Amino acid sequence: MLGAGYSGRRFAQALRDRGERVLLTDRHGPRPEEQSDDWLRFDPAAGVFPERKLLAGVTHVLVTIPPDPQGADPVLTTLASTLASLPLQWVGYLSTTGVYGDHGGDWVREDSVLRPRLERSQARLACEQAWRCSGLPVQVFRLPAIYGPGRSPFDNLRNGTARLIHKPGQVFSRVHVDDIVGALLHCLAMPAAERPQTVIVADREPCPSSETLGFAAHLLGCKLPPWQRWQDVGPTMGPMARSFWSENRRASSELLCDSLGYRLRYPSYREGLRASINLI
Ligand SMILES: NC(=O)c1ccc[n+]([C@@H]2O[C@H](COP(=O)([O-])OP(=O)(O)OC[C@H]3O[C@@H](n4cnc5c(N)ncnc54)[C@H](OP(=O)(O)O)[C@@H]3O)[C@@H](O)[C@H]2O)c1
Repeated sequence: MLGAGYSGRRFAQALRDRGERVLLTDRHGPRPEEQSDDWLRFDPAAGVFPERKLLAGVTHVLVTIPPDPQGADPVLTTLASTLASLPLQWVGYLSTTGVYGDHGGDWVREDSVLRPRLERSQARLACEQAWRCSGLPVQVFRLPAIYGPGRSPFDNLRNGTARLIHKPGQVFSRVHVDDIVGALLHCLAMPAAERPQTVIVADREPCPSSETLGFAAHLLGCKLPPWQRWQDVGPTMGPMARSFWSENRRASSELLCDSLGYRLRYPSYREGLRASINLI
């Protein structure tokens, strides 16, 4: 697992539950309760790399590391020859649906036109392409907003930082972290020749963020913050927050669910938030 963050840790746990040995890399090392020989430090900007001999025999790799601040892929720029020397059968690369850019609220599928306008999405698309050209058996997973236990609107509602913003026609797609794990396992179980090169993993109910916030407040039994109009609050937001609202698309998981037969554990935010509330 290159990058042991939110999704990486969750996937590693699922594999370990199946009896697989999993190595994880992190820039800072494991938390005290996670100390083990299976943690390797990988911090390319600091010149820290896992020793080649510790990776010997690795057959499957999941890359969860985003492009670096210069827009390059930190793994490919530093570990490409190490990876090429391994007997790899599968390299999963977690990307984002940001590579589609703005589609005016329309559905996007794996073959939809890619027109990223944001710099970080252009960098992401370049990294996707670099992985595809790496000669490794790469499968790209495009993800919308990831949520789940410990990463949900509940925290913001509890600490009073949630914002109820209305922008007419704006929707967001999302995916529960355990459906990322489930989709990865589903694709891994397929014969290599049948794995599509690119797969969107998303739930089936893109909707306005006000809808998910309303449902989260209902589950918590707390009040919603006051409504704010996008045209009033947009200009006061930081560039990162504003950029999320600057694009509108619905990510389709038709390929994953209807063609490849994956059954989403959390087809909408309703099941996903219910499952996350007690696990924070
Ligand atoms: N969060 C979302 O809603 C979302 C949506 C769509 C796609 N994605 C993408 O999907 C992937 C997984 O998301 P996630 O939320 O599970 O990620 P995450 O929790 O942020 O974990 C990313 C991991 O990559 C490591 N990392 C980041 N930059 C690095 C660098 N320059 N060099 C070495 N290691 C680095 C992080 O290490 P540290 O712990 O040291 O930072 C962390 O272990 C990411 O590529 C993310 O951009 C995320």
